[in-house]
Amino acid sequence: MTVLHDLPGLRPVVAALEETRIVQMVQYGIGRQGLIPLWVGEGDVPTPDFAREACDKAIRDGRVFYGRQRGLPELREELAAYMSRIHGAAVDADRVTVTTSGMGGIMLTVQALIEPGDEVAVVTPVWPNIMSAVAVMGGRPVPVPLAEGNDGWRLDLDRLAAAIGPRTKAVFVNSPSNPTGWTIDRDAMRAVLRLARERGVWLIADEVYTRLVYDAPLGGRAVAPSFLEVATPDDRLIVVNSFSKNWAMTGWRLGWLTTHPELSPVIEKLVQINTSGTPEFVQMAGLVALREGEPFLAAMLERCRRGRDIVLRGLADVPGVTVTPPAGAFYAFLRVAGVTDSLAFAKALVDRANVGLAPGSAFGPGCEDRLRLCFASSAERLEEAMRRLAPALAEMAPRA
Ligand SMILES: Cc1ncc(COP(=O)(O)O)c(C=O)c1O
Repeated sequence: MTVLHDLPGLRPVVAALEETRIVQMVQYGIGRQGLIPLWVGEGDVPTPDFAREACDKAIRDGRVFYGRQRGLPELREELAAYMSRIHGAAVDADRVTVTTSGMGGIMLTVQALIEPGDEVAVVTPVWPNIMSAVAVMGGRPVPVPLAEGNDGWRLDLDRLAAAIGPRTKAVFVNSPSNPTGWTIDRDAMRAVLRLARERGVWLIADEVYTRLVYDAPLGGRAVAPSFLEVATPDDRLIVVNSFSKNWAMTGWRLGWLTTHPELSPVIEKLVQINTSGTPEFVQMAGLVALREGEPFLAAMLERCRRGRDIVLRGLADVPGVTVTPPAGAFYAFLRVAGVTDSLAFAKALVDRANVGLAPGSAFGPGCEDRLRLCFASSAERLEEAMRRLAPALAEMAPRA
């Protein structure tokens, strides 16, 4: 760890926190004329009107006071009904806590579980904030890399089992995955759950991209498998969710946790000392998004599917570049053979092609030859990005 700050009294673990490499990239390229930014995890579609209008109305109606720490009861009820509906497994509102974003939910989770020296087995590649959240609590994230083969990304259960030691407090699984798009199937979920039960560790499931899966029948309801479908309420399971990605609400900072029912009051106490609750007018937008958002979710998925096709087609014939078609989420995690410094390479791509990608090294070990591209954008924007990227990558990819 590089120590970046030496102010007296600062906790060493906090002093050592680095800007994520995604942020470093944004800092490098931001403000360049004509740059196409595909480096962060959000699209170019604003939040749908029905959610914005609900928020407007809530403010005008005076919903501007402190609210319930666990969230509006009607939103918790609606979330429980929504999860029960999409996952076909009854989820009680007692298990639901509204959080100030998915990230906020992750921080509440690690605050509840992680003591200094505890380990968390984290399936990687993974969004870097997960690792940092564990580290900030004094915990040690232990990467468990997915294997990439001809049939896509795969979780090696023996490898996961081997990563669980006497100090392991939890296993962290993000599916659909940022950045790989790997989407765990039900058999693997059952096996992971079995392992967590056997070893007596918590299972933290980050399911913020649940509604973005590409093998769903066209026109049908797309839903990734959830650990809620295979677990019982008594399992030591925490499911992290968010309105950010599926409903295009990244700026609203609205998410929710689904937990063991006895954990809800504990999380509630932590909400009290973190944020003291999520603004009611924001929650009202979430409520309406759940009630009216299905057509928007379908349109969002189709937009991402189109984006995915454009990117996969655009990269198909670029020498030295390979990419496993993502099964879910909205990223392509491409590999450029021979690259040894993904941050330097991504910066050079900005200079050469004026397209911003995230460096693979942000997402864990073994990713120095990778770049992440977010394809939740308009077809025109992605077509132009690929027109620039394909020749640049072909020219810049190191030759064997
Ligand atoms: C895997 C994963 N989990 C959680 C989050 C947090 O989402 P938010 O804090 O916007 O709700 C993100 C955002 O990029 C993510 O990719």
